Amino acid sequence: MPAPSTAAPARPTRPAAPPAPPASGIRFDHVTVAHGRHGEHVVLDSLDLTVEPGEVMALLGPSGSGKTTALRAVAGFVRPVSGRVLIGDRDVTALPPYKRGIGMVVQQYALFPHMKVAENVAFGLKAQKVPRAEIPGRVAEALELVGMAAYADRHPRELSGGQQQRVAIARALAIRPGVLLLDEPLSALDAQLRSGMLTELARLHRELPDVSILYVTHDQVEALTLADRIAVLESARLRECGTPQELYRSPRTAFTASFVGTANLLPVTVRGAGGVEFAGRPLAVATGDAGPGATATLCVRPHRLATGPAPDPHGNTLRGTVTEVQWRGATHRLYLAVDGHRVLADLRELRETPPLGTEVTLHFAPEDAVLIPAGIEAAHHA
Ligand SMILES: Nc1ncnc2c1ncn2[C@@H]1O[C@H](COP(=O)(O)OP(=O)(O)OP(=O)(O)O)[C@@H](O)[C@H]1O
Ligand SMILES: [Mg+2]
Repeated sequence: MPAPSTAAPARPTRPAAPPAPPASGIRFDHVTVAHGRHGEHVVLDSLDLTVEPGEVMALLGPSGSGKTTALRAVAGFVRPVSGRVLIGDRDVTALPPYKRGIGMVVQQYALFPHMKVAENVAFGLKAQKVPRAEIPGRVAEALELVGMAAYADRHPRELSGGQQQRVAIARALAIRPGVLLLDEPLSALDAQLRSGMLTELARLHRELPDVSILYVTHDQVEALTLADRIAVLESARLRECGTPQELYRSPRTAFTASFVGTANLLPVTVRGAGGVEFAGRPLAVATGDAGPGATATLCVRPHRLATGPAPDPHGNTLRGTVTEVQWRGATHRLYLAVDGHRVLADLRELRETPPLGTEVTLHFAPEDAVLIPAGIEAAHHA
């Protein structure tokens, strides 16, 4: 096949599928990163995490929790004070970034403004000493993957934010990396573009199923939509790692419950098997191993609460006063004071918005609540 010229890239036919890169996962083996003259500021604390070949792993956590640091440790821009980083079977801890065979996209598109789109995408290939004759074809292939083939001759300033970010992704993909690192790649885009790009990224991953992706975000929607698994970081530590469904439906810590989705977290005391007490009232929930007298947190998702008394004798009832109402189109979010605790309820759009101060009864099914034993955070890291 003749190499497509960059001057006429907008071909109607797709180039042949790129050869699959070697499938290679990522492994953090006790990786600690510290700053300060004596390494006294630990910003990543003994991280153990494996991204399987072809897996999308989201790193989710609040600002400053160490997400970018973890990514930079894989890329080779920060050197761990201890531990190892492996890509595939290879220990890359001591390798410089350009020898690691990874593609990386950061929050600000960081395209070279004086270079055309095609030159931007070719940049990494030249740095990798790809034979000159192969470069136009590889550039066209990468631009095609992100739907930007028609823009090869433009300068970055002639592109929208979303288009620039696609070019940045094409640039990262051009070297056919086994590992793609994305650091909040959508955060500079507006909400509508972001949702479009999410779909694009999902498609891209289907077309490149062997590429392992480590995706940093503090947006839970991005993490829930794109990731095969989510690793939750808090204060330099891995709190929990699991599939989006596991973390959403059965969070093991209160932090995860409130960070992955919205959660009502109620302080309760276990009364016995299948029962807890909240503000002096009994509630039926699965209690697992928690014994009578143990304190715990009960997690109930706002959309699991419904108005009215419980339909069956095992259902649970909460009674509260409306303190705030938000109309969100398809739903109403009610903020309620329930025995001094704030409870959120997301209800299908109500015909009439309840006035503040209204007394409301809510119910939820025992299986829609998760009991989080107290002290699990501490135990997890003991
Ligand atoms: N070069 C550095 N020197 C000293 N401290 C640093 C350095 N780089 C990062 N840090 C600190 O490390 C911590 C983790 O930073 P990191 O950039 O990994 O956070 P993050 O989770 O990516 O946050 P954000 O969501 O805001 O991007 C922060 O407290 C930050 O101030
Ligand atoms: Mg960051």
